Amino acid sequence: MPLITRFIASQLSTLPQLPKVDLSGRVYIVTGANCGIGLEIVRHLVPFRPGKIILACRNFQAGEQARAEILRQAPDVDIEVWKVDLASFASVKAFAKRCHTSLGRLDGVAMNAGMMGAAYQVTEDGHEIVTQVNALSPIYLALLLVPLLRKTLQQDISAKKPLPNPYIPRIIFTASRIAENSPTKFFDPEHPLAQLDSKEGYRKGTRYDESKLVEHSLVRHLIGVVPDLVITSTCPGFVDTPLYRDGGPAALAARAIGRSSEVGARSISHAILLLYKSVNYYADCKPYRLRIDWMNRKEGKKFGINFWKESLAVFEQSSPGLLAAAGLTS
Ligand SMILES: NC(=O)c1ccc[n+]([C@@H]2O[C@H](COP(=O)([O-])OP(=O)(O)OC[C@H]3O[C@@H](n4cnc5c(N)ncnc54)[C@H](OP(=O)(O)O)[C@@H]3O)[C@@H](O)[C@H]2O)c1
Repeated sequence: MPLITRFIASQLSTLPQLPKVDLSGRVYIVTGANCGIGLEIVRHLVPFRPGKIILACRNFQAGEQARAEILRQAPDVDIEVWKVDLASFASVKAFAKRCHTSLGRLDGVAMNAGMMGAAYQVTEDGHEIVTQVNALSPIYLALLLVPLLRKTLQQDISAKKPLPNPYIPRIIFTASRIAENSPTKFFDPEHPLAQLDSKEGYRKGTRYDESKLVEHSLVRHLIGVVPDLVITSTCPGFVDTPLYRDGGPAALAARAIGRSSEVGARSISHAILLLYKSVNYYADCKPYRLRIDWMNRKEGKKFGINFWKESLAVFEQSSPGLLAAAGLTS
């Protein structure tokens, strides 16, 4: 079925309501939680009484506004706003350090924050900003948090805590099926990161799609090296959110046919509540086969392996010892 037909069928499908699950004592992080899909993920979790939810936001004030809004509906939920800027590895590192020192456990991370194409911009770490925010930093943060997620699993096993589903700590990425639409002909399988970071390699119109494809490629590798946690990429569908704040046809289309943020968040929340093993992709509240033939061809595989290796080298340089701590040797 062509992409457009699958897209329309998906947008028109009715997604299931979330099941009732007891999350008491469990601790969650939602990145990009101050608006759009992230805020709705938080709203989905709150009625199930989790022990704590961290709203991980780059704009602290916007996070506090979201927190106040949620507390008006559910005054006794423990919600904190912690600052993190995915355009800065130093910020990601500081956030992860705070998690390790302040949280006794971590049951799930909704790795949701993301941005649309902007004018070409390089971060303080030397990477093209959309690539860093949408792909590199979410994986970096995931790897930094793996030891805490594993510790939580071990605690529950030692305490013989009954695990619903069974409930294994998880990292759920908000990716996008738009990755199927990404051009791949400009990707350099030999030097993926250098090409993505270069000004010559940057096209504003397609960078978002490319960033979601390379994010998904990294998530697939992450699943391979962290088999004991639940990890997946999810797609919320086409959702009317501030992501399209720059206006243009996409904003108009989102307003006209986009899902509400609540419906868009359902696949992600569904995975947070119910998924019991890693799957490459999850959309419309069920496993989904992403159709990107290029990823399975020689040059796509080479790109994927090299991009993974280059990214790990960047993370290890930023946090020496990270790979060993996450149980990875290369
Ligand atoms: N809307 C869609 O149709 C759609 C479709 C597929 C996938 N997605 C994905 O869904 C996720 C959520 O997007 P959304 O649609 O809910 O858009 P949104 O309302 O714009 O939310 C994006 C969130 O990410 C945060 N963010 C952006 N850059 C950041 C940075 N450098 N550091 C930390 N946080 C940052 C934003 O913070 P600020 O408020 O401070 O900007 C905001 O909280 C994104 O990953 C997006 O790619 C969306």
